[in-house]
Amino acid sequence: MTKYNIALLPGDGIGPEVVDATVKVMDALQKKTDIEFEYKTYMIGDAEKKRSGTALPQATIDGVKEADACLFACVGETAKETILPLRQMFNLYANLRPAKAYPGVPAVRPETDIMMVRENTEGIYKMIGHRSPRSAFNVRVITWEASERIVRYAFEWAKKNGKKKVTAIHKSNVLDYTDGLFLEASRSVAAEYPEMEYNELIVDAASMWLVMYPESFEVVVTTNMFGDILSDVTAGLVGGLGMAPSGNVGDDMCIFEPVHGSAPDIAGKGIANPAACMLSAAMMLEWLGENKAAKLIEDAVLKVLKEGKTLTPDLKGKATTVEFAEAVAKAL
Ligand code: IPM
Ligand code: MN
Repeated sequence: MTKYNIALLPGDGIGPEVVDATVKVMDALQKKTDIEFEYKTYMIGDAEKKRSGTALPQATIDGVKEADACLFACVGETAKETILPLRQMFNLYANLRPAKAYPGVPAVRPETDIMMVRENTEGIYKMIGHRSPRSAFNVRVITWEASERIVRYAFEWAKKNGKKKVTAIHKSNVLDYTDGLFLEASRSVAAEYPEMEYNELIVDAASMWLVMYPESFEVVVTTNMFGDILSDVTAGLVGGLGMAPSGNVGDDMCIFEPVHGSAPDIAGKGIANPAACMLSAAMMLEWLGENKAAKLIEDAVLKVLKEGKTLTPDLKGKATTVEFAEAVAKAL
């Protein structure tokens, strides 16, 4: 029996609904495996800020630190005060954003199967800058250490997952200082993996290539802001953010999260699609080394999508969030 302490950070809007649905599935998983979960729920986001004055209370920070793994859903307007600082303060340097087509989910490019590895701690997200009345700047910080670390993560992920190709995306023709450094670090890491195909693409061309020839990509590695933008492009190839899971991972800590936002328009109606949150939980289990359990969740979600009988309204179905969760739990 392996026991994990899981910190739940439901946040705002549809967050609590999709997390509850995911916990239902994880509870069902406990009965199928020798894994046990102990959940602790922590406050985060707009509502918490309204209540206590801070969107990210110290108790939440401590809870994340103590947990074996965390599942965060979404916040409204306070992302800059919540998930961004959490990513940086705990050095969750790799943001993993897979894009795969799912059965029953209309995809522009069903042949897509890409793992986007986004640097998650620096770049323009350092939020260093200055505003004068009529001029402003933000500083883009790129370090050798973080660049090397993220590219190595991408290669190691590729190796572990039977992939053969890593593409680094940059804009070194303009951002000569910062992306010049990123590329140099990237090449030095690539040289350690002669068995892998390594190539480089400038970010504008990469955007076009991703849309036109997604099948030519396997693992993509890039800096923070490019990864933010391009991961929405790859999500768009396979049906949008509604189905996109992700993970913020470091060497010994992690926060997994569906990429979608808090969807205030449908919050509290019980019709949110919890699939991205469930798939994020599956990624979390994989990170914990529970590959079999991870696969069970992913397969169960895929089964329910494929059957097409219990889909939420965003997928043209009539099921509620709870009904979807029950169907996935049963499919386990
Ligand atoms: C994401 C989001 C965040 C980001 C926002 C909400 C701050 O777009 O996780 O992709 O820019 O990283
Ligand atoms: Mn984004």
